[in-house]
Amino acid sequence: MKELKKALADNAKAVNGVLDDILMMGVGPEARVVEAMRYTSLNSGKRIRPFLVTASANLFNVDEAAALRVAAAVEFVHCYSLIHDDLPAMDDDDLRRGKPTCHIKFDEATAILAGDALLTKAFEVLADENTHGNSSVRVELISALAKASGAAGMVGGQMLDLFAEDHPLQMPEITRLQRMKTGSLIAVSCEMGAILGRASEKALHALHAYAHDVGLAFQIADDLLDVEGDEKEVGKKTGKDAAAGKATFVSLLGVERAREQAEILAKQASAHLEIFEDKGSLLSDLALYVVNRNT
Ligand code: IPE
Ligand code: IPE
Ligand code: MG
Ligand code: MG
Ligand code: MG
Repeated sequence: MKELKKALADNAKAVNGVLDDILMMGVGPEARVVEAMRYTSLNSGKRIRPFLVTASANLFNVDEAAALRVAAAVEFVHCYSLIHDDLPAMDDDDLRRGKPTCHIKFDEATAILAGDALLTKAFEVLADENTHGNSSVRVELISALAKASGAAGMVGGQMLDLFAEDHPLQMPEITRLQRMKTGSLIAVSCEMGAILGRASEKALHALHAYAHDVGLAFQIADDLLDVEGDEKEVGKKTGKDAAAGKATFVSLLGVERAREQAEILAKQASAHLEIFEDKGSLLSDLALYVVNRNT
């Protein structure tokens, strides 16, 4: 675990550098939107998705600079999803990563635009030759991230999350919702590492199965933090899901059984990494970290 903590911190530092380089301050009055993009991206995010990209890419000895640019792309999509998730029309939150949310710091219209521009920036980065010299690899990356982000992935999951506020869901439907809204970006992070590494079908399959379990475990842990977490540590308002009538494992199973499920999923996730032997140890530790985190 000590090794993982260091790897997470080193990776976050490297990713922050790349995010900072890519998001260059603009000029003129339109620079306000770039300011909002930088405000939401350059901060204390845990950078779990970027870590999944680089750790997966490392399984196949991918060039670090390429992996970091892909890691930045998925973090841009994630940051956009958080800005929109916090808007009054969605979760109506005013605290994110320990700071006022984008629409509170700026205004709603700027927050919507900053989210839009972060989403498109992600694809601009993937389409750039500096990310990968081979255009077919770039197209594969773009296609994978687009599918994971859109109506069949994260956005579709967010739609279900809102739908569930006034339509009670059962376990299979909640599982699908969580896998879409959170699992999709987690899974594509691993998948893009594998695409960069020209991974075999077998390796891709193993990583996919790992990410499938980690994604669900991650959201269960997030829902547990909403009930049990400390607002200062978590950096966002807690106790909001029940009030909003969100469909979560916690709302359906209660805290104890939800935690058990998350732990089972983490162990199951690690088991899928066996084919990578020692090389998979950081990813394996990450699955355990994800369910035991307090932030
Ligand atoms: C929060 O994600 C939103 C979810 C999908 C649960 P993270 O817990 O990864 O948030 P940051 O990036 O560290 O702020
Ligand atoms: C958000 O889930 C998932 C996204 C796709 C952004 P939550 O609404 O539970 O995330 P938090 O708790 O606000 O970070
Ligand atoms: Mg939400
Ligand atoms: Mg939210
Ligand atoms: Mg939450």
